[in-house]
Amino acid sequence: NTGKLWGGRFAGGPSPELDALSRSTHFDWRLTPYDLAGSRAHANALHRAGLLTDADHAELLRGLTVLGERFAAGELHPDVSDEDVHGALERLLLEEVGPDVGGRLRAGRSRNDQIATLFKVFLRDHARVVSALVLDLVTAIADQASAHLGDETTAPTVMPGRTHLQHAQPVLLSHHLMAHAWSLLRDVDRLGDWDARVGGDSPYGSGALAGQSLGLDPTGVAAELGFTGSSANSIDGTASRDFVAEFAFVSAQIGVDVSRMAEEIILWATKEFAFVTLHDSWSTGSSIMPQKKNPDISELARGKAGRLIGNLSGLLATLKALPLAYNRDLQEDKEPVFDSVDTLEVLLPAFTGQVATLVFDSERMGELAPQGFSLATDVAEWLVREGVPFRIAHEVAGACVRRCEELGIELADLTDAQFAEISPHLTPGVREVLTVEGSVSSRDGRGGTAPVRVREQHAELLARAEAL
Ligand code: ARG
Repeated sequence: NTGKLWGGRFAGGPSPELDALSRSTHFDWRLTPYDLAGSRAHANALHRAGLLTDADHAELLRGLTVLGERFAAGELHPDVSDEDVHGALERLLLEEVGPDVGGRLRAGRSRNDQIATLFKVFLRDHARVVSALVLDLVTAIADQASAHLGDETTAPTVMPGRTHLQHAQPVLLSHHLMAHAWSLLRDVDRLGDWDARVGGDSPYGSGALAGQSLGLDPTGVAAELGFTGSSANSIDGTASRDFVAEFAFVSAQIGVDVSRMAEEIILWATKEFAFVTLHDSWSTGSSIMPQKKNPDISELARGKAGRLIGNLSGLLATLKALPLAYNRDLQEDKEPVFDSVDTLEVLLPAFTGQVATLVFDSERMGELAPQGFSLATDVAEWLVREGVPFRIAHEVAGACVRRCEELGIELADLTDAQFAEISPHLTPGVREVLTVEGSVSSRDGRGGTAPVRVREQHAELLARAEAL
């Protein structure tokens, strides 16, 4: 019964069926370095409390170091008899340092405070990895935006801005792309908020649920594990998993944000849109249709967003109505969020590569930008600047669109006479807003699509990304 941490009161060992159900080493083994770090901090706390001699303390630390080295070398493995990572590591430690010394480490802690703590440390590490990957994507978007901002010699790239997927108003491509970057920056911000909250609350010292009686110093353990404080309530410390659900939410939100950009890339790469060409190394072919070039990265991004949402939903369902304190249900918190971490860590680099290598057809986007009467709002707002009430201006601009539809032409094709016929307010001066350049340049309020504002926005985006 070597791998069990709880043999004493049982006459016989667990049935093989129970063992099979209970075992978690196939997924929690990856927590090994975190468990060892927790054990090291705990050994130090026992030593400070006078519960370990200097010699035993040193021997325990040596044993933990050896296990860490064997793990790093890929030579440390759980046994089928081990229930979870904690039991397996205790067994392996006993093998390394002997039962007398090894058997002292478990005093004053429970797997309940242990797992809650080390899961936090694991997720905090991966929050940093995911944040860096999201920032890489933001950088790729900002670089594309920068390439299409224009300068003294080249005009910025314009495109049809859409609402309801219909042509709405022309916008700069850079402006549109950066809209995705801003939402991704907020996701990084969210991970930072989450980290600050989780980092103040190390559950070590909570014991099974009621705290520990051995005079241990949980703030010392917390500090050693990178926390700024320890749990104020041992029941909360061992039973709460909102930190897992919140991490899964931010992961899902990142997936959703990426999926919105992915969907646009898929549309833009169609023959009908033809806004963008995908790089060969970041797209795939068909096994039967030789001509195909498919946006698989974006499609996988779209699909994986569903999976990330599923992980969040599953976790919330596990937590719903779960009585305090620890229940074994909580072992189900790991696989979904491990999956979210793994999914993002494989998805984001691929998606970033695809975005960085997109080649936009600026000419085509520029040609389509004024079509579909996307300058009608500019006509109405020009009339307002001429002193016409907006209600009437809206009517007049609408009448222009109706007339154009009858004639099968675009707004700029109306003659001066046709304009005057629609309304005496429509003097030839209206033509100044009937170009895409005039339209975008006029939207020069903060956050607007005027090139001067979009250049400012680009600088603001980079400064914000830098500060995160
Ligand atoms: N492996 C468990 C988990 O992941 C921790 C062990 C707690 N088990 C127990 N019987 N109290 O939640």
